[in-house]
Amino acid sequence: MSSLHFHYYYSFLVIFLFLLYSSASAARGTHSPPPPPHLRFKPTNGQFKILQVADMHYADGAATKCRDVLPQQFPTCSDLNTSAFLRRAILAEQPDLIVFTGDNIYATDSSDSGRSLNAAFAPAIEAKLPWAVVLGNHDQEGTLSREGVMRHVVGMNGTLSEINPTVMGSEIDGFGNYNLEVGGVNGSGLGNKSVMNLYFLDSGDYSTVASVSGYGWIKPSQQYWFQITSRQLQKAYKSKPQPQNESAPGLAFFHIPLPEYASFDSSNFTGVKQEPGGISSASVNSGFFTTLLDAGDVKAVFTGHDHLNDFCGKLTGINLCYGGGFGYHAYGKAGWARRARVVLATLEKTKKGEWGAVKSIRTWKRLDDEHLTTIDQQLLWSKKSTKKQPLMT
Ligand SMILES: *[C@@H]1O[C@H](CO)[C@@H](O)[C@H](O)[C@H]1NC(C)=O
Ligand SMILES: *[C@@H]1O[C@H](CO)[C@@H](O)[C@H](O)[C@H]1NC(C)=O
Ligand SMILES: *[C@@H]1O[C@H](CO)[C@@H](O)[C@H](O)[C@H]1NC(C)=O
Ligand SMILES: *[C@@H]1O[C@H](CO)[C@@H](O)[C@H](O)[C@H]1NC(C)=O
Ligand SMILES: *[C@@H]1O[C@H](CO)[C@@H](O)[C@H](O)[C@H]1NC(C)=O
Ligand SMILES: *[C@@H]1O[C@H](CO)[C@@H](O)[C@H](O)[C@H]1NC(C)=O
Repeated sequence: MSSLHFHYYYSFLVIFLFLLYSSASAARGTHSPPPPPHLRFKPTNGQFKILQVADMHYADGAATKCRDVLPQQFPTCSDLNTSAFLRRAILAEQPDLIVFTGDNIYATDSSDSGRSLNAAFAPAIEAKLPWAVVLGNHDQEGTLSREGVMRHVVGMNGTLSEINPTVMGSEIDGFGNYNLEVGGVNGSGLGNKSVMNLYFLDSGDYSTVASVSGYGWIKPSQQYWFQITSRQLQKAYKSKPQPQNESAPGLAFFHIPLPEYASFDSSNFTGVKQEPGGISSASVNSGFFTTLLDAGDVKAVFTGHDHLNDFCGKLTGINLCYGGGFGYHAYGKAGWARRARVVLATLEKTKKGEWGAVKSIRTWKRLDDEHLTTIDQQLLWSKKSTKKQPLMT
């Protein structure tokens, strides 16, 4: 096929798939009520809390020593400390969802990737909490490929991870591109709508383009999937029943930071940027930040990858946040505590006194020190007030 023919063929294919996707969604809407969302805001406090765990770098458990801890900590420190931190963080925060943002295992040092994955996610399963995973650049370096890692993960208990969207399955790059809907409070007016949308993307590992070195990036096929998914979700939210005027806020999770993470300095972010290499993005800009801006619903992006950066800064309305290094076998900084990010969304109360749409999204971090210290609380986003302002006279 000539490249021009290929271009036409590809365009038709994309349009065909779009129609297929739209009609499948429309069919769901007209013939049967949407399936209840797996995730929901809680009726007790109108909240939904996410624990982000970045870069566990899990390998062989007790046999895998820690990196970059103080000399006196080294003899008793292994992957088991990563599991202990995860258990403590779960107990302290009682999240509604745990999101693992890649480099979950450091597969080079693992003798069996499946076993490492089982051990790494075990605390989430023990806690009987739903959990979601995206891939980093190290997960596939052992006995399983990227596809193999994702296939193993989706077979585990309690995970909401998916390999790729069902309709466009074979067309989209990477493994582990999917979205999750978080429903309003059961029984409330928005109980059957997704009031917050979570997007998970595979940011790849390394460039596969010969002339470009460095890390991978989010490909056009994935961006297109994101775009149509966001559009559908926004349309559903603004349609009957209970049509809303504004889009439901979205959060995006992937491993490798976008080049736009380099737009900040300490005057306009919360947290630290102390990675010797700065921001380890791909060396080309995939345009995904622009795609997010264009879609309009995503209010914050959460990545990992740079273990010594843990900041959150806002660029043109979108927060770009790091999780901060979590795992003890991951490189870190001796004496600088391993950490996790927490994201808390809270609903507003409607005039009728029931839980409504998302009012605010906040974040903070938990340090793996003696007291699991909470630091860097930030308001990421809040809904524009719909109350009429009294007229000034
Ligand atoms: C790792 O876990 C061991 C065993 O519980 C504990 O003694 C040690 O202090 C922990 N090390 C770190 C760095 O947390
Ligand atoms: C998954 O959970 C089910 C039900 O609790 C249990 O029977 C099964 O053994 C679990 N599987 C694994 C691999 O842990
Ligand atoms: C949701 O609310 C309905 C009644 O409004 C109730 O029958 C159902 O059990 C509730 N579901 C859950 C998961 O709480
Ligand atoms: C939500 O869906 C359930 C089950 O389909 C239905 O009984 C209920 O009336 C719906 N609630 C609202 C507010 O639309
Ligand atoms: C949407 O805007 C219209 C017009 O301002 C208003 O009447 C309606 O109550 C709003 N709906 C919601 C859900 O806020
Ligand atoms: C942050 O502040 C620096 C100046 O200190 C400025 O160059 C940069 O554009 C600012 N970034 C954002 C996103 O506002």
